[in-house]
Amino acid sequence: MKLKILVTAGDGIGPEVTGEAVAVLDEIAAEGGHEFTFTQKRIGGVAIVQDGTPLPKDTLAAALASDAVLLGAVGGNEFNSLPPDKRPEAGLLQIRAALGGFANLRPAFAFKELAVNSPLRAEIVDGADILFVRELLGGLYFGRPRAWDKAKGEALNTMRYTRDEVVRVARVAFDLAQKRRKKLTSVDKSNVLECSQLWRATVNEVAAEFPGVTVEHQLVDSMAMHLMNRPRDFDVVLTENLFGDILSDESAVITGSLGMLPSATIGGKVNLYEPVHGSAPDIAGKGLANPLGAILTAALILRHSGGLENEAAAIETAVRKVLEQGFRTPDLARGNMQGLTVLSTKEMGAKVRETVKTLLVRA
Ligand code: NAD
Ligand code: IPM
Ligand code: MN
Repeated sequence: MKLKILVTAGDGIGPEVTGEAVAVLDEIAAEGGHEFTFTQKRIGGVAIVQDGTPLPKDTLAAALASDAVLLGAVGGNEFNSLPPDKRPEAGLLQIRAALGGFANLRPAFAFKELAVNSPLRAEIVDGADILFVRELLGGLYFGRPRAWDKAKGEALNTMRYTRDEVVRVARVAFDLAQKRRKKLTSVDKSNVLECSQLWRATVNEVAAEFPGVTVEHQLVDSMAMHLMNRPRDFDVVLTENLFGDILSDESAVITGSLGMLPSATIGGKVNLYEPVHGSAPDIAGKGLANPLGAILTAALILRHSGGLENEAAAIETAVRKVLEQGFRTPDLARGNMQGLTVLSTKEMGAKVRETVKTLLVRA
């Protein structure tokens, strides 16, 4: 299998974690005779500094010419005073819009080995396995008009959704639910927002196409609570852009760390793969970052862009085995640490590679 992968490592811990993800993919290519080629391009703060724009033209052209894009993270404290359209994050929103993927899949899987390190009790998190489907190209992020009139002391953003935008992402979510535990929870704020009323009515219309899937609706505020109290009750969680951003970070508590969460954005011209976490300026450059979210993101590349299900599963199994052997990065080092060993970013990457190799050789 040949895959042309563009790596936009970005800022902060982006280069550290994508480096480990690429190394795992290289190992898989070597073991299985696959040809994965990697090109590196700038995005985010590093591109603002070197190219004067958060999304250089050659980065976008390379992205459109690739089979998959692996993005690290963008953003840095030095850019915090810039307006939204000039910031590193604007580069990320531009590449998302240009690639066109509207369904952002954010699996939150609670590895049972991490229950001892979880801030939640083991009996709450054990077995939790949620797939968030976050609408990625609509809502407040892209709605116009938007403005900050400093003289007037007034700012404006627009939440806008069309029926078609909801239909297309809902179909993806129902289809995935049908292949999983056949339950879909749609999250909105339909007690206050017209956008959410459109959302709920449209999800109900699409539900009729998938009679095998049970649908429930939750309001986003109480959903934030249900997620912590009873995460095992949820299978596919479908929601709009901003709610999905917030709830997926909240699910980091279920999985043990934000550094554990992968994502894949599908439905557009080229799929975009990013760990859920940001550039983590507080730990950047220190070898403290957890690379497992990025490595699990590499598994999603193999699954969704390569059709390599066995290899994707081998990465996920390798992550589980490394955790089973007691290895942790510092973000996971809480709770009962007896018998557990804390590793650096690179050491954790190396452990996963070693383990992936043994799994593939045996297969
Ligand atoms: P963040 O996700 O960068 O960090 C939140 C906390 O989680 C920090 O304490 C950080 O150290 C920790 N953390 C995150 N990833 C980790 C990992 N892999 N291993 C260990 N610890 C990890 O969120 P933030 O601090 O709110 O934002 C920092 C910057 O990142 C901002 O500029 C923001 O806009 C940007 N951001 C970018 C993306 C992206 O590019 N996809 C996503 C989220 C935030
Ligand atoms: C994420 C991030 C981005 C988002 C930012 C950096 C634009 O928080 O991918 O979750 O809000 O989508
Ligand atoms: Mn986010």
